[in-house]
Amino acid sequence: MKVIGTEASQVLASRIADELGTAVVDVKFSRFPDGELYVCAGGLDEEMVIVGSIVDSDSLVQLLLLIDTCENSHNHLIIPYMGYARQDKRFKAGEPVSARAVALAVSRGAAACITVNIHDKKVNSYFGIPSTDVSLAPDIGTYIKKMDLDDPLILAPDDGATVFAETVAAVGNWDCDHLDKTRISGDEVRMAHKDLSAAKRSVVIVDDIISTGGTIATAAALLASQGARDVHAACVHGVFTNGAYVRLKAAGIREVVCSDTIERGCSQYSAALRIAGALGR
Ligand code: R5P
Repeated sequence: MKVIGTEASQVLASRIADELGTAVVDVKFSRFPDGELYVCAGGLDEEMVIVGSIVDSDSLVQLLLLIDTCENSHNHLIIPYMGYARQDKRFKAGEPVSARAVALAVSRGAAACITVNIHDKKVNSYFGIPSTDVSLAPDIGTYIKKMDLDDPLILAPDDGATVFAETVAAVGNWDCDHLDKTRISGDEVRMAHKDLSAAKRSVVIVDDIISTGGTIATAAALLASQGARDVHAACVHGVFTNGAYVRLKAAGIREVVCSDTIERGCSQYSAALRIAGALGR
């Protein structure tokens, strides 16, 4: 077994290889003069683990090219962050089910697929192959433990993140609560007022994705108005679009951290161990 990764997932692919005690394949990535992507891989194995977060269109194409490169191997597909997963249904006539379109495109040539905290588990059923999701909620809990906060409150910014937040909170037996969020636009949300008993407490807001940062910024403002001592934010997928990381720091959030499903300077915990575990190693 060997591991191969797209450019967007080179660090995580190497970590998965380390966890599996195997090699990561060297890949040459370049472009043709017209801008088309090109890949050329070194020695493959008869069993391959193909790792590629879909963070943009190029990373999706690179993943498709690597899958084709490995056509003569038995392939395990790993999609640590799956862009397009949030368009998981047709919200209005004329739209595609983008998550299904992407899932079907990458399924060809792989025996099975592993995702990490996919936005909705129903997306796993869109792959044309067996697909399972692993959660980094316990790893976020372990990271929060290392932060050594005094009796922190773990907060989900919406009802949908409640189970995730409860799993994080179970690691330290911390208090857990959730807010009720209504999305107004792509980068604006409204939170229903709720008394969180946050006064003079450290609060860690946890979520699967931080994209524009609107969700976390709005929750943090509510916490500040209720006298929270300090606010931290931890997520799995640090998309941080439109300068979201800086937006959150400027809003007074003490620490903003994510995993390496999207490789960032603030990636503080890795998905590698969970993925290796899901591969049965
Ligand atoms: C939504 O359901 C997700 O769990 C996240 O809360 C959302 O994607 C965060 O987006 P943003 O950072 O743009 O508010």
